[in-house]
Amino acid sequence: MNQFYNKHFLKLSDFSKKDIFELIKISEKLKYDKKNFQEKKTLINKNIILIFEKNSTRTRCSFEIACFDQGANVTYLDIKNSHIGYKESLKDSARILSNMYNGLQYRGKYQKNLEIFAKYSKIPVWNGLTNEFHPTQILADLLTIKEHTKNKNIDQIKLSYIGDINNNISLSLIEASIIIDFELYLISPQKIEANNNPYINNILKKIKNKNKIHITNNIDIGIKNADFVYTDVWLSMGEKTSLKLWEKKIKIFSNYQVNKLLLIKSNNPNIKVMHCLPSLHLYNHYKKLFTKEIISKYKLFNGLEITNEVFESNNSIIFQQAENKIHTIKAVMTSTLLKKKY
Ligand code: CP
Ligand code: NVA
Repeated sequence: MNQFYNKHFLKLSDFSKKDIFELIKISEKLKYDKKNFQEKKTLINKNIILIFEKNSTRTRCSFEIACFDQGANVTYLDIKNSHIGYKESLKDSARILSNMYNGLQYRGKYQKNLEIFAKYSKIPVWNGLTNEFHPTQILADLLTIKEHTKNKNIDQIKLSYIGDINNNISLSLIEASIIIDFELYLISPQKIEANNNPYINNILKKIKNKNKIHITNNIDIGIKNADFVYTDVWLSMGEKTSLKLWEKKIKIFSNYQVNKLLLIKSNNPNIKVMHCLPSLHLYNHYKKLFTKEIISKYKLFNGLEITNEVFESNNSIIFQQAENKIHTIKAVMTSTLLKKKY
């Protein structure tokens, strides 16, 4: 029996190392079959709903392409143009939609809202990003890491994540490291703040016993001999986009940028650079977000969390990560919707 059948995909820590490796294996097969024009359509007549409370390019398109490739029908629902959470409770919305659809993706603010959907849905619910977690992203990242880890197993790599360690990418990478047991350095001037959030409290409890997870503000130690360096935006979608908060973040993180010097400090000319995207690396693109004063005060001419030079370099595997979202999301969908694995 397929261990994923009829299960939700809410966070990585609901799964074992064996499960995660199995999902990666299914993704590899789906990727191979798609590239070789031999993909079997296994979701014909299935109806899928994608609910978005926050913006998306990659995740939405990956879910939609996964549906098209597999023969499923798909509805995109922007929460603002629906009754969900306003005229109609999450509990009622879940019961109504799970009588209409076979699978439901939710991207929203709170993990606890996603859990309400899951509790009252009769169908698999997939997390397309919450403030706390982004598990479909990390699954795509693990596939990408595997594709670039030919001489080692994934549990033998060192991954350094630099920047905002209180966001969904960082927290999901921690979950991945706890499960898979790869070495994870979180390089940041911050500490992880739980703020009474039970999911984050749980992570903090678990990392106490993990000697492969290190939190440091020392860039030299954190990056040395890393196989992969990963960064994400300094201000995430769940946060207020005020100039004041931006300036606060820039002040905290401006020395924690992925740039050429950081790559040199890794002492690994083949270090691979990762970013979940979208990223603020192009001056002409992000300059409209800030005042001229902020740009000159913090010398924001060469990217924010990553420079354009590194973004465009041969070390970058960023676009491969984005593409791999199709294959890993498809693996999650087919595995949770079908009795038999793809
Ligand atoms: N990485 C990611 O989730 O991108 P989107 O916000 O475009 O979906
Ligand atoms: N931390 C980012 C990830 C985007 C994919 C955000 O939540 O905005």
